[in-house]
Amino acid sequence: MENLMTTPIEGFSKLSKADKINWIAQQYTQHPKETIAILKQYWNADEKLQNLHDEFIENTITNFYLPLGIAPNFLINNKLYAIPMAIEESSVVAAASKAAKFWQTRGGFKTTILGTEKVGQVHFMYHGDSEKLTKFFKLVKPRLINSVAPIVKNMEKRGGGIKNIELRDKTSDLDDYFQLHCTFETLDAMGANFINSCLEGFAQSLKEEALGYEKFTDREKDIEIVMSILSNYIPNCVVKAEVSCPVSELKAHHGITAEDFAKKIVRAVNIAKVEPYRAVTHNKGIMNGIDAVVLATGNDFRAIEAGAHAYASKDGRYTSLTHASIENGIFKFWIEIPLALGTVGGLTTLHPLVKLALEILQNPTAKELMQIVAVAGLAQNFGAVRSLVTTGIQQGHMKMHLLNILNQLGATEEEKISLVDYFKKHTASHSAVVLAFEELRNKK
Ligand code: MEV
Repeated sequence: MENLMTTPIEGFSKLSKADKINWIAQQYTQHPKETIAILKQYWNADEKLQNLHDEFIENTITNFYLPLGIAPNFLINNKLYAIPMAIEESSVVAAASKAAKFWQTRGGFKTTILGTEKVGQVHFMYHGDSEKLTKFFKLVKPRLINSVAPIVKNMEKRGGGIKNIELRDKTSDLDDYFQLHCTFETLDAMGANFINSCLEGFAQSLKEEALGYEKFTDREKDIEIVMSILSNYIPNCVVKAEVSCPVSELKAHHGITAEDFAKKIVRAVNIAKVEPYRAVTHNKGIMNGIDAVVLATGNDFRAIEAGAHAYASKDGRYTSLTHASIENGIFKFWIEIPLALGTVGGLTTLHPLVKLALEILQNPTAKELMQIVAVAGLAQNFGAVRSLVTTGIQQGHMKMHLLNILNQLGATEEEKISLVDYFKKHTASHSAVVLAFEELRNKK
C-alpha cells in the first residue's frame, strides 16, 4: 500500500459527521471519493433513524451491517420459538435450525434457572488493624445500604435490589487490599448502571464513615478507594439447558448406528472436558449460538463471553461448558452457563431491530431470555459436534460458505444457481469452487 501521509488530529469528536468522513477518507484511504460513497451507501434513508444510530456511540460515520437470521422450530419448555440471530459466520444459523428441528421431535429443550445473582465490588486499600475494620464494617453496613436508598427504590419496588455486602480481606494476595463484595438482584435489567451506581455510593459512604470513626488511627481513617465496578464473573447467575432421548431415537448418521453416534458425541464432549485446546474451540462453537442471540437482543456480548470463559475455568482448569452422558439407554446433553442479560433498559427499546427481535421472542423476561440463549448455545454445540464426529466440519461449512466465494468471484445469479446445484454432489473447497466457476464461465 502506498504510504499515506497522516497527521494527528485535535478535537475529532467535535467535527461534524461530514467533516469526520472527509478527514478519514483523505487521511487514511487511497480513494477518498469512493470511500465517502461506500460510507454513505450504508446510511439509512430515514434521517431520524440514522440519527438514532449515530448517537449510540461517538464519532459514528456509518452503519456496519451484520445479517439478522432466524432459526425456527426451537421447542423450549414445550413452547415454540423462532430465534433471531445476528452473526456473520455463514453456517451458524443453518446449524442452529438443523439442531432445533432434530430436537423438536425428541421432546425439545428443557431449561432451569439455577440463579440470578449479579456481583459488584468496591476495591480499596486500608492500612491498619483488620479486626478494627471488621467491627467498623459491621457498624456501617446498614448505613452504606441506606446511602443508596434513592437509587435502589424502584428496583426494590419490583422485588430486586441489594442482596448483600460482604467485607473481604484480600491481604494475603496483595498488601492492604480489601473489598466490599456486593451481590444484587436486578430482575429484567442487565443491571450494569444500577450496580455501578450503588457501588460508587457504597464507596463514598465507606470513605466518609471511616473518616469519622473515632477508633481508627489517622492512617486507618484514610481508606483509599481504588475502584468500584460490577464483575462480569457471575457464577451464581446461571441457567441450565438440556436435551435427552432414548439412544435408539438418535437417528443413524452417515453409516454409523444411533448407539455409536451417541457414544461419539459423549467421547467428543469428554475430550473437551479434559483438553483445554479442544475446550476453547468447543466453547467457541457454543458462543457462536449464544453471541448471535445476545447481539440480536441488544445485550452485551463481551460481558457474556468474559463471564462464560471464566465460568469454564472455575474449577482451576479450562473445560467444556457442555456435558453429555448415556445412562440406562438415555442420551443426555446439557449446558450450564452464566448469562447476565436484560430485556429492559439499554438498547432494548432504542434499537428498532432489537425491539423487534424481542417481540419475535414473545417479549421474554430476562430469565426467559437466559433460557433461550442457553438453548441456542447448546443447539449450536450439538450441531458442531455432530458434524465433527460424522462428516467433518468442512462439508457443511463450505456449503454455506459457497455463496460467499461465488459473490467474491462475481458470479451472476444464474451461475450461482448452477454451481450451488453442482456442489450438492461435489465437495466444496475454495479451489474447487474457483475451478468450477472458471469452467462454467469458459463454457459460455
Ligand atoms: C466454528 O466457528 C466453530 C467450531 O469450530 C466449533 C467446534 O469445533 O466445536 C466448528
